[in-house]
Amino acid sequence: MRGSTILVAALGWTLVVAGVARAADADNPNHAAYVKYCGACHGPNGKGDGIIAPLMTPKPTNLTLLAKQHGGEFDAMAVYKSVSGAGMPKAHGDSEMPVWGEELRHEVGGGDPRTAEVTLVKIVNYLRSIQQK
Ligand code: HEC
Repeated sequence: MRGSTILVAALGWTLVVAGVARAADADNPNHAAYVKYCGACHGPNGKGDGIIAPLMTPKPTNLTLLAKQHGGEFDAMAVYKSVSGAGMPKAHGDSEMPVWGEELRHEVGGGDPRTAEVTLVKIVNYLRSIQQK
């Protein structure tokens, strides 16, 4: 039973991601990567207002406030870690949600970890660019 539940969830997820990705800013490759992997929850511009956010508890973090919440410093390494696996928030790694580091490695570049790293760095750079002062 659990297998089919996961399959249905994965199908729904793919549709959600495809829909959101079309809304991506085609001029900004960092933004496109972010929207593809994070936008459905954290919102198209990182404000925590993604299309499935209303269904989630706890709510996805407003990612434009990361620097503000950490003494005005954008800690790229901490963000990178929380997405790639180490120190991951529960919502990214519990049984209901894919572990994003692994998901990325699997999806991007056919499981090549180096391709996945590049995508993660793009996403972190995008997040750096949207921090509120
Ligand atoms: C399935 C929905 C979902 C997706 C997809 C998702 N997140 Fe999250 N994320 C959440 C939720 C929910 C929280 C809040 C967790 C909490 O408060 O415990 C969160 C928290 C975070 C945090 C805050 C961590 C902290 O320590 O405060 C960061 C950073 C983050 N996400 C980045 C990302 C990035 C980058 C991506 C894309 C690679 C992503 N998330 C994809 C749901 C998601």
